[in-house]
Order: sequence, then C-alpha cells, then structure tokens
Amino acid sequence: MATKMTLSVLKADVGSIGGHTKPSQRMMDATRAAAAGAVRNGLLIDTFVDHTGDDIAIIASHTRGTNDTDVHQFAWNTFLQATDIAREYGLYGAGQDLLADAPSGNIRGAGPAVAEIEFDHDPVKTNPVRPAESFMVLAADKCGPGAYNLPMFLGFADPMYCAGLMLPRIGEGFTFNIIDMDNTDGDSIISLHAPEDYYKITVLLRDNERFGIDSIVSRHTGQVAAAVSATRLHNIAGSYTGKDDPVAIVRNQGIFPAPEELISPYAKAHYIGGDARGSHTMPLMPVPINTPVVGMYCLPLVSCVGFSLNAGGKFSDSHIDFFDNSAWDHVRILAQQKGIEMRSQGWSGPAMLPYGELEYSGFRQSIGDLVERFAFRNGHQSGVPEPQKAGAGDGNAD
Ligand code: 13P
Ligand code: MG
Ligand code: MG
Repeated sequence: MATKMTLSVLKADVGSIGGHTKPSQRMMDATRAAAAGAVRNGLLIDTFVDHTGDDIAIIASHTRGTNDTDVHQFAWNTFLQATDIAREYGLYGAGQDLLADAPSGNIRGAGPAVAEIEFDHDPVKTNPVRPAESFMVLAADKCGPGAYNLPMFLGFADPMYCAGLMLPRIGEGFTFNIIDMDNTDGDSIISLHAPEDYYKITVLLRDNERFGIDSIVSRHTGQVAAAVSATRLHNIAGSYTGKDDPVAIVRNQGIFPAPEELISPYAKAHYIGGDARGSHTMPLMPVPINTPVVGMYCLPLVSCVGFSLNAGGKFSDSHIDFFDNSAWDHVRILAQQKGIEMRSQGWSGPAMLPYGELEYSGFRQSIGDLVERFAFRNGHQSGVPEPQKAGAGDGNAD
C-alpha cells in the first residue's frame, strides 16, 4: 500500500566563524537537537543535518507534502535559534539568509534554499517501479543558482554520462522543467522533453544565471526524479544579499540514473558564477559534507550525501558521503588548477562575472560612479543632445 512520502531539504547561512567559512559546533548541535525534537513530536519522520561551507542543511522525510507550513516554520524557527547562537558569539553574517521578518506560511522565497519532492512510497520487491527508494542531496556553497545545470543535464539526458538511458524504461527520457529566474512576477516555467528537445534545453541551461533546472520528471512514470531550489535571492529580496547556493534532491537507481551516472559530470569541476563576493567565475569543487571554506580562493563547493528510505520513511541507519573518497582528490586538484589558471588573470574579462551578475551591489555602484564621470573628449558640441547619463537603466533587478 503506497503512502505519499515527502523529502524536504531546507538550507540557510545564518552565521559562520572567522568569516564565511562554516557554522559553529553549537549552531550545528542546536539544529540537530531541534530536528530530533521535530521527530519526537511527530512532525518529521527522520532528519539529517550537515553543512557545506557556511550553509546549514536540514534534510527531512515526512508525510505532509511540499510547501507544508509546519515543516517550513520548524525550519525557519530552527534557523532563528542558530542565528541567536551566531549572534551571541559574534559570528559573521548572523541570520544572513533570513530575509523576511516572519514568513507566515512556507519559507520559499524568504531566503533559505528549499527543494522538495513528494512521491508514492511503497518499497516492496513486487513494486515494479520503485522496489527500493534511494536518493541523494546536493548542497552548494559560494555558487550561482544554475550550478547544477550542466551536471544534471548530462546525468539525465546524455548517454555519454548515463548509459542507463539506453535501457527501455529510463530511455523514455526525462522532462526538464526550467525556471526563468529573471522573471520576478512569479515562477515562470517551461517544460522541455529529452531527448527530442535536447538542443533547446541547452539553449536555456547554458545561462546559469538566468535559467535553472526547477525539477526533472521521469517520462516513463511521471514521477519526479529531481528538484532544485532554483530561485534567485536578489530577485526575491530586491537587492543582492548573498549568492544563491542551491540545494537539490535527486532520486537514483532503477527508473532513474544510478549515482555514478549522476555524479560523474562533477569530475569536470566546471566553471560557474560564485566564489569570492559571489562575483567570480571559478570551478565547482566536489567536497565531503561538513567541509569549511578555507582554500586559497573561495572556490564554489558542492557536497553530495545519499540515503535509502525504509517503508516507514526512516533514513538508512547511516549515510553515504559521495565525494568523501580519494577518487575525488584528483578532481579537487583539477579544481585548484583551474582556479589558479582563472585567477591568474585577476579581474580581467571572464574571470569576473559580467556587470549584471555581480553579487555585491557595491561593485555596480563603483562602476556607475565612474560611468557618470565620462565626458566627450573635445567638449560638448552645441546642437547635439546631452547624452543620457550612463550608469542608470542597466536593466538589472536591483
Ligand atoms: P555566502 O553567500 O556563502 O555567505 O558567500 C558570501 C560571499 O560572497 C563569499 O565571498
Ligand atoms: Mg556566508
Ligand atoms: Mg553560503
């Protein structure tokens, strides 16, 4: 008998030690204690709490569906508790991602990154679709919102990475629901189908700052395979307040790609927007969970933790940390090399994000102030209209 099961990941940066590095042990302990309390009082079935860089993630299973007020309020209040600890100890960026005063319902759009999937859960041997439920949670720090665009596309649509796509059921392909993150009027989504829309999907996903994967759905079953927290903080808050540091839930095996088919694209350490001041183009480095940001730059990080789910919705008695293996050391070296190469040209050209994507509005102000001072070389000729002041009307969100 299938039950409706929900997986939720809610992640926020609410303070970190000595700069934007990692949350304190007290903050982690308090978050874990709150999560255990939510299991005891029946709100959640199971939880796991970790951090990636300075972001704390609460991973939870429950039966309340997506966007549930109680689950979201629990996460918000837990992040507030961790914020209080961060404030008490004078940590950097206390409460950084809690942008709204007190959101009354779900907290999507209030600052924390949220990804959720609801699905039919009946993990028995006779279930032809899903005899066992396994999934992974990706969490990225110092990253732009489309950090998963390329690796997820390759894992779900390219047989060069997912040979499973040559098999009958999974080979029916996947629907990519893609969000236009520049549309501030609401969630603006297009559904494109792999394989026939393969090229069209790349037309959008090439732009990591504007278009992001919102979710991926199996065409064989209509089941959601993956969900990503692809919304832009600066579109929600009205001003840049931190890079978007997305999270994702990805179900794997059987009718979905296998873990290695999903994580092998991360071996590229592909360049994305993010890094220091959210304003550089740097490689995405796969790291174990609970890794702080202490490298010589501020490389974008991604962690990936996996679980199985029993019939009652409990996580396996332990987790698997996919990037915590020496196999990934090679990629971490590659990421450092790619980072050094890119940073050797400092601020020039593609090493820093274009004007419209600079996270710190101060950068744009610096440019705008200078643009205001431009004047014609030979003075202004009469009869020629005054040029429009540059710096205004740049078409950016904030
Ligand atoms: P966070 O969003 O992870 O706090 O990063 C801030 C930043 O811009 C790093 O330089
Ligand atoms: Mg931070
Ligand atoms: Mg962060």
